[in-house]
Amino acid sequence: MSLFRTKNLDHMVAQSRAAGGLHKVLGPLDLVLMGIGAIVGTGIFVLTGTGALTAGPALTLSFVIAALACGFAALCYAEFASTVPVAGSIYTYCYATMGELVAWMIGWDLLLEYGLATSAVSVGWSGYFQSLMAGFGLHLPAALTAAPGALPGVQTWFNLPALLVMLLLTAMLSWGVRESARVNSVMVAVKIGVVLLFIAVGARHVQPANWQPFMPFGMQGTMGAAALVFFAFIGFDAVTSAAEEVKRPERDLPIGIIGSLAVCTVLYVVVSAVMTGIVPFRQFAGVDHPVSLALQFARENWVAGFVDLGAILGMTTVILVMTYGQTRVIFAMSRDGLLPRRLSALHPRYGTPFVATWAVGLVFGLVAAVIPLGVLAELINIGTLAAFCLVSVAVLVLRRRRPDLPRAFRCPGVPWIPLMAILFCIALMTFLSATTWIAFGVWLVLGLAVYFGYSRRRSKLHPAV
Ligand code: ALA
Repeated sequence: MSLFRTKNLDHMVAQSRAAGGLHKVLGPLDLVLMGIGAIVGTGIFVLTGTGALTAGPALTLSFVIAALACGFAALCYAEFASTVPVAGSIYTYCYATMGELVAWMIGWDLLLEYGLATSAVSVGWSGYFQSLMAGFGLHLPAALTAAPGALPGVQTWFNLPALLVMLLLTAMLSWGVRESARVNSVMVAVKIGVVLLFIAVGARHVQPANWQPFMPFGMQGTMGAAALVFFAFIGFDAVTSAAEEVKRPERDLPIGIIGSLAVCTVLYVVVSAVMTGIVPFRQFAGVDHPVSLALQFARENWVAGFVDLGAILGMTTVILVMTYGQTRVIFAMSRDGLLPRRLSALHPRYGTPFVATWAVGLVFGLVAAVIPLGVLAELINIGTLAAFCLVSVAVLVLRRRRPDLPRAFRCPGVPWIPLMAILFCIALMTFLSATTWIAFGVWLVLGLAVYFGYSRRRSKLHPAV
């Protein structure tokens, strides 16, 4: 039964409030900005092209469907985050409700989600960065522009800009959260400004005829695109991983989670409507910068240049917040003994998990440098959808086991909202490819091996530890 041992909830809450832990410096606006920082990136700036090809103008509907899945899950996240404001997000919630093995598996799943997401976004960043530099006549040697095998017919060794951006952001995060949050806020403001600029300028060029037929590939295409552009919403859950560094977590975490998701949903639906209204959707074939392409199509080349710059900043903040979330999950797992203890040591001066931050930066920087990640969005999606299902189950379990626990934010409509979250997430998962399911299965089996080979005996809940 030790596989189902749970952490003591009351003890965890006390631990999060104890002095000497992570610095409590973040407020509600920081969190909303942090959420938007993690959300708006590759999904809207790169994947919408493929999304439009899959769904046609119904891409707007795909965004709404993906947003609903996220919205239901976000309400569940918000309840947990306001009840158990400790680092580690859903990993920690599961530890308190469904036991160590489930918690370990979800932590392992999050490592995949955040880790590969940072790598994938770094690769997207590198593409935009190189195209911007090319505009000034600056080119890297071809061998350093992409991972081996990423460009057909070109001999490439590794993706230098992707590695460098990861290392730079890692250095920033290892210096301190307050400073990172400040830089993040500036970049998020620019990113939102650029998206609004796109909408304002693009709306004038919309030809409503391009929206007909609205759903050329039926519900099948619309759902397929929803399963893909779901990627564009990933990140709001990273807000919860900041729980221990928030000044008033009970109130601020729900604001951060739901606020950032709401803002992004509105932006995405409008952006996709404008994009497919300017360009006949079939012209997005093979395009990796669909948003700025739409402006070029409308002969707004100057604005397109600004959008490229905003996309680069936008993706920078995604990498920043995802790396941050990743280090906090590792911090929590290590503090519980499931990962080596050194990973939760705080730097004496900066107060950050220094070793964990650099471990993440180096490993996923190298992944970004040597693995072509174009197709990995699906793998990241399946991991996240599984996490969303589990957090919804965990809310139901905790309501039953601990009805007495004070909950600053209560998910409305229990059990229906958590059940809807589960239903929507499973529905989206069924639209992902068989290869994705197999790769996900392999990752989970690997996780089981590490758990039984290492973590189980080192857990703080193990009687001999
Ligand atoms: N939602 C993030 C992005 O679209 C992962 O880049």
